[in-house]
Amino acid sequence: MQNFKGGVGKSTLSVHLAQYLAIKGYRVALIDCDSQASATTLFGYVPDLDLTEDDTLYPFLRQQELTSLDYALRKTHFDGLELIPANLRLFQSEYEIAARMARGQGRLLDRLSQGIASISDRFDVIVLDPPPALGAISLSVLRAANALIVPVPPTVMDFSSTAAFLAMLDETIETLSENDLAPTLKFLRFVASKVDENKSMQKELLNLMRTLFGHAMIRTPLKDSAEIDNATARLMTVYELDGPVTSSAVRNRCLAYLDGVNAEIEIDIRSMWPSHLGRLRKEGIA
Ligand SMILES: Nc1ncnc2c1ncn2[C@@H]1O[C@H](COP(=O)(O)OP(=O)(O)OP(=O)(O)O)[C@@H](O)[C@H]1O
Ligand SMILES: [Mg+2]
Repeated sequence: MQNFKGGVGKSTLSVHLAQYLAIKGYRVALIDCDSQASATTLFGYVPDLDLTEDDTLYPFLRQQELTSLDYALRKTHFDGLELIPANLRLFQSEYEIAARMARGQGRLLDRLSQGIASISDRFDVIVLDPPPALGAISLSVLRAANALIVPVPPTVMDFSSTAAFLAMLDETIETLSENDLAPTLKFLRFVASKVDENKSMQKELLNLMRTLFGHAMIRTPLKDSAEIDNATARLMTVYELDGPVTSSAVRNRCLAYLDGVNAEIEIDIRSMWPSHLGRLRKEGIA
């Protein structure tokens, strides 16, 4: 999940996608790569009280001797979903990687990718929730990703910063390529997030995004919903609330957007799997 802009819904969508896939029976890992630890919080942790830096990506990013990310994976209350949590101490990695890169030490941006390779045989899908900035960790996430989902709220500010993000993405991939670190993206999809269709400007921008991004747009918009706000306030997701915090109608609509977006992403993921590609084509889905 990537967009260098803050607050666009990366963590919300990462956690709901990871839980949706786990409910569907996939083996899923969610890696919180952001020291703000929003995704970790949505699993009920108070990151800076309940966790130490040793529970996060931090040791792996700094110690070349560690060969597996296994130590950081922890079970969650969702069957089939494991989490690598984050807390504020992970921010130290940003400085440390930058300083070590300045000293010319190795392929540090490759480290997360190596970590993922060390656990990937145990999972069907690994979801990465990055921090909202172009730093060492965001670059490592880009390097490690084999697909990108970019949440974009249809507001002028978010939309123009997404245009800047795409230009930077282009440059960054070029720079990574020069160092043999280019990601190999199987798909790049945009999700309209936090959409408020009562606002005419948002409707216009949503139409513009659909025209510009075409098939790269996820068809279902993830609308702004009080149910998401209320679940977040309880450190939960909409999938784990027993009943509506708002009303049944609001909750059902919200679940319909979430399931719609996640189902489209699921089809994209499945289409990457060689064993499914043929069948999906036959069924006319991919
Ligand atoms: N569809 C939605 N409806 C209502 N609120 C939402 C929705 N999506 C996200 N939010 C709220 O917007 C805020 C920012 O969302 P989130 O933390 O997912 O964004 P982010 O891109 O991960 O932010 P950051 O860049 O800081 O990591 C949160 O309070 C979240 O609850
Ligand atoms: Mg976030």
